[in-house]
Amino acid sequence: MGTARSKVLVSLLFSLFLLLSVSKIQAQRTKTEFTFRGFKGNESEIRIAGGAATIKPDGLLRLTNRGSNITGTAFYHKPVRLLDSNSTISPIRSFRTSFVFVIIPSSSSNGGFGFTFTLSPTPNRPNAGSAQYLGVLNKENDGDPRNHVLAVEFDTVQGARDDTDRIGNDIGLNFNSRTSDMQEPVVYYLNDDPNKREDFQLESGNPIQAHLNYDGPTQTLNVTVYPARLGFKPTKPLISQKVPKLLNIVQEEMYVGFTAATGRDQSSAHYVMGWSFSSGGENPIAGTLELSELPPPPPNTPKKRGFNSQVIVLIVASSAVMLIMLVLLFFFVMYKKRLQQEETLEDWEIDHPRRFRYRDLYVATDGFKETGIIGTGGFGTVFKGKLQNSSQIAVKKIIPNSMQGVREFVAEIESLGKLRHKNLVNLHGWCKHKNDLLLIYDYIPNGSLDSLLYSVPRRSGAVLSWNARFQIAKGIASGLLYLHEEWEQIVVHRDVKPSNVLIDDDMNPRLGDFGLARLYERGSQSQTTALVGTIGYMAPELARNGKPSSASDVFAFGVLLLEIVSGRKPTDSGSFFLVDWVMELYANGEILSAIDPRLGSGYDEGEARIALAVGLLCCHQNPASRPSMRVLLRYLNGDDEVAEIEDDWGYSKSSRSDFGSKFVGNVTSSSIASSFVTRISSTSVISGG
Ligand SMILES: *[C@@H]1O[C@H](CO)[C@@H](O)[C@H](O)[C@H]1NC(C)=O
Ligand SMILES: *[C@@H]1O[C@H](CO)[C@@H](O)[C@H](O)[C@H]1NC(C)=O
Ligand SMILES: *[C@@H]1O[C@H](CO)[C@@H](O)[C@H](O)[C@H]1NC(C)=O
Ligand SMILES: *[C@@H]1O[C@H](CO)[C@@H](O)[C@H](O)[C@H]1NC(C)=O
Repeated sequence: MGTARSKVLVSLLFSLFLLLSVSKIQAQRTKTEFTFRGFKGNESEIRIAGGAATIKPDGLLRLTNRGSNITGTAFYHKPVRLLDSNSTISPIRSFRTSFVFVIIPSSSSNGGFGFTFTLSPTPNRPNAGSAQYLGVLNKENDGDPRNHVLAVEFDTVQGARDDTDRIGNDIGLNFNSRTSDMQEPVVYYLNDDPNKREDFQLESGNPIQAHLNYDGPTQTLNVTVYPARLGFKPTKPLISQKVPKLLNIVQEEMYVGFTAATGRDQSSAHYVMGWSFSSGGENPIAGTLELSELPPPPPNTPKKRGFNSQVIVLIVASSAVMLIMLVLLFFFVMYKKRLQQEETLEDWEIDHPRRFRYRDLYVATDGFKETGIIGTGGFGTVFKGKLQNSSQIAVKKIIPNSMQGVREFVAEIESLGKLRHKNLVNLHGWCKHKNDLLLIYDYIPNGSLDSLLYSVPRRSGAVLSWNARFQIAKGIASGLLYLHEEWEQIVVHRDVKPSNVLIDDDMNPRLGDFGLARLYERGSQSQTTALVGTIGYMAPELARNGKPSSASDVFAFGVLLLEIVSGRKPTDSGSFFLVDWVMELYANGEILSAIDPRLGSGYDEGEARIALAVGLLCCHQNPASRPSMRVLLRYLNGDDEVAEIEDDWGYSKSSRSDFGSKFVGNVTSSSIASSFVTRISSTSVISGG
């Protein structure tokens, strides 16, 4: 009996113990209490979703930054049991929560959309929309009773549309819908006079504290909001509302937390500094949140971070464009300046109308490109060019050895430019550019006599005919006569030779480079007058006195005449001298043997005899004994009988045979000659050969 009793007692005690344990476990399961004073180290207690949602190193819980069109949610990781199915009076347990938050707008006039404290059956809000959906609901599930969502909305955008630009400042209670059942503008009531209320802005960048108290037995939800800096909780709540609808919302397990969203154009950063929650106790009291115990609020720099990425890209791009344009402008100005500098004229240059602009010549010759070169030698390089009026020109680019010479030479060019004769190459003008002197001439298409006489095969394919040769000789003589006697002053050519005779379309010879040699004489720095001319064409007296004259031009013409008739150069490597050779034949009565054998019998014997005799007369050792251009032109034209060649033509019989070698020897051994050779070797001598 006794044992049976004791057995019953033990089992009763055991049942009681079990009952107590179970109810204790149940009490633990129904009670939720937490206080986050900052969220540092609480990453595992908070479930975060959304691109910009995070717990910052300083402990701030950020829901969104000021990126556009984003959402962010943060829920306590464990569900809260708010249903009390045993209670007849209050099926939903009382709960209290308090939190401190900060909303920082993009700019003073452009923030949004706000944030919520939410009761949700899930610890996140999948597919929730941004902007007016506040990260809680979306277009499809808006208003659906199956949502089981209560959102206490801290609304900073007035109206429901995304494109609205009115600033809102309200607290709303939303049940399963983005539309609030009730909405109150944000104010707080003073404790000393509960009828007095103070306005303040949610979206101020300052910490705001909120209290949500739900009393189960009376089904009343109180909402109190105020600036956290007040330091005390206003006694009178902003909202004190019976919320029977909550019965349809709350399920067995509910999660509590925050959501926030930004719009396309309107955005704010949403932060939570601290959060306490309590439910399930007899009279739950949420932990206090003193500002001093919370992490410092986020810096309020509305404008600085207010640019969205598109604006930044725009600013960067436009800055880059501006920079590029500035650089271009700089180079353009420099370029203009350089061009101007290039064209800056010295005083003396301005007075000379035959001056060409370098820029025009540069364009005309296509930038002095190498393929435009039509000749070298005779003091420089010759380029073919075409002026804007489409007249063809030849531009001779000379590098004078002294610019002092150029200044005076330009004056002379001015007068040479006035020379007009059908057997002269017209000089149109000049241009000085840096160290170069540019002379602008007619463009003569057929090339020089030089190339017509010697190039094999010649352009025409046949030897230059006797008629052509004789006409050319007479033409050259006519041009020289104009220079020597028909112009207002005597112009000595100084460099008569085949390469300076250009042949135009009508086989008409035109003398070029007249007067040019003066440039080189003037430019000479040495005391000795520099000799200008070409070996083989230089009169013997030039080597002695260095004074060019009409007579020395006549000598050169004589050599040229013999050359035209014989087709042989004035001298070869040393043993042959054309003038001596023709004189020898003349003395032996075999003068016709001097005629170019390539002509065969295709020549006029009378004209040939005249030409050879005139050539020899011109090569008289004594300048005074040479005929003038006027006289010799009459001989060539057959107007006068050619004069007898005097016996002292070569001064003495003995010197005659070695005349040429003596002459050349003189030139090369003298000091004058050495300067002459260096000066001329690259131009006349080369072009002559
Ligand atoms: C938050 O984290 C801290 C540090 O890890 C911890 O002491 C505290 O209890 C946590 N708070 C809650 C409410 O879990
Ligand atoms: C906002 O973002 C969602 C998805 O992230 C997108 O479907 C929607 O079109 C966006 N709205 C605007 C206005 O950009
Ligand atoms: C509800 O009441 C019944 C009986 O009154 C009790 O057995 C049960 O434990 C109670 N449940 C809760 C959750 O208190
Ligand atoms: C809600 O506010 C009313 C009015 O101030 C007050 O009487 C009541 O006690 C409050 N309830 C809670 C749960 O704070």
